[in-house]
Amino acid sequence: MKALVLAGGKGTRLRPLTHTSAKQLVPVANKPVLFYGLEALRDAGVTEVGIVVGDTAQEVRDAVGDGSSFGLEVTYIPQDAPLGLAHCVLIARRFLGDDPFVMYLGDNFLVGGIRDLVDSFRDGGHDAQILLTKVAEPQFYGVAELGPDGQIVGLAEKPERPRSDLAIVGVYIFSPVIHEAVRAITPSARGELEITDAISWLIQRGYHVHSHLVSGYWKDTGRLQDMLECNRIVLEQVEPEINGTVDGLSEITGRVVVERGAVVENSVLRGPIVVGANSKIVSSYVGPFTSIGPGCVVTNAEIEYSIVLDGSTVVGVSRIGHSLIGRNVEVTSAEGAPNTHELMVGDHSKIKVRV
Ligand code: TTP
Repeated sequence: MKALVLAGGKGTRLRPLTHTSAKQLVPVANKPVLFYGLEALRDAGVTEVGIVVGDTAQEVRDAVGDGSSFGLEVTYIPQDAPLGLAHCVLIARRFLGDDPFVMYLGDNFLVGGIRDLVDSFRDGGHDAQILLTKVAEPQFYGVAELGPDGQIVGLAEKPERPRSDLAIVGVYIFSPVIHEAVRAITPSARGELEITDAISWLIQRGYHVHSHLVSGYWKDTGRLQDMLECNRIVLEQVEPEINGTVDGLSEITGRVVVERGAVVENSVLRGPIVVGANSKIVSSYVGPFTSIGPGCVVTNAEIEYSIVLDGSTVVGVSRIGHSLIGRNVEVTSAEGAPNTHELMVGDHSKIKVRV
């Protein structure tokens, strides 16, 4: 069994972060979301991994390297343009050979690992296996319609009128017959080779596509609210650990991780939170479900339910919540008159100001 991990794509829903970086490398509890998937593959005994990369190829290569730090053997597969999930299978033909493989979307997060899924595919003799989960807004996902015996009768990609609330989770397992399917289909109305079309092709030709209902937690972290939710779920499980310096004036409650070299002075930290290496929290409140990246400075500020990436500064602002702050960003208070908000923000940024 091999793995094909998709780490290209456009990432339009996470702009402006994706103008400069790969969405698969946005950290969840200070670890890139992609790493959780790579670890799940390794834990399932799948060590030969092809990673499809696009515009952000260099950044992904810098982060993952040859995979040895994960116990994996990684091959990079460049994709000229994000032409769809089935296109990724098409261009990975040589790497995949005639092995069955797990296709893992690099921005997907699945609690509980994939070992059981890989084992059940190995034992089941299926041609393909997909995972389904109930979601509140199926129109944003690939959706499956099941027949009375639980067999898949139809698949649709982001349908306007979904025929069920069962979304397709971004972890698939295919036998080599999928290569015939991805060659046979044509681009959809949005110009992509859709994996749902390739799977439908298999079903129409009588191949056995097994579906499995996921009971654990799953998120496609392509949108801000999903990223923050994912961060919350992971932080709820962190083991408290203080490896930095916390002074006697500070108050720490709940699951709090203070990484090496971080300094906390005169502050209230209410977990679950993680404070990255060499960050400085001074006279501030950091509230639940917050990940502060390495090398950040938070002074005279209040922040909760947020992710702050490396090297950013938050000074004199209260209270920030439900926010994703990129790398080397400065959020500070404006002094003196006139009473204005002063902004210099990147393209496609989203700012909500309380007036
Ligand atoms: P999506 O989230 O469906 O697509 P996207 O990255 O273009 O995002 P957006 O809708 O916000 O513009 O992709 C799922 C995963 O697959 C993600 O990790 C990116 C990756 N991908 C590729 O590697 N190549 C592709 O051609 C596509 C469409 C996605």
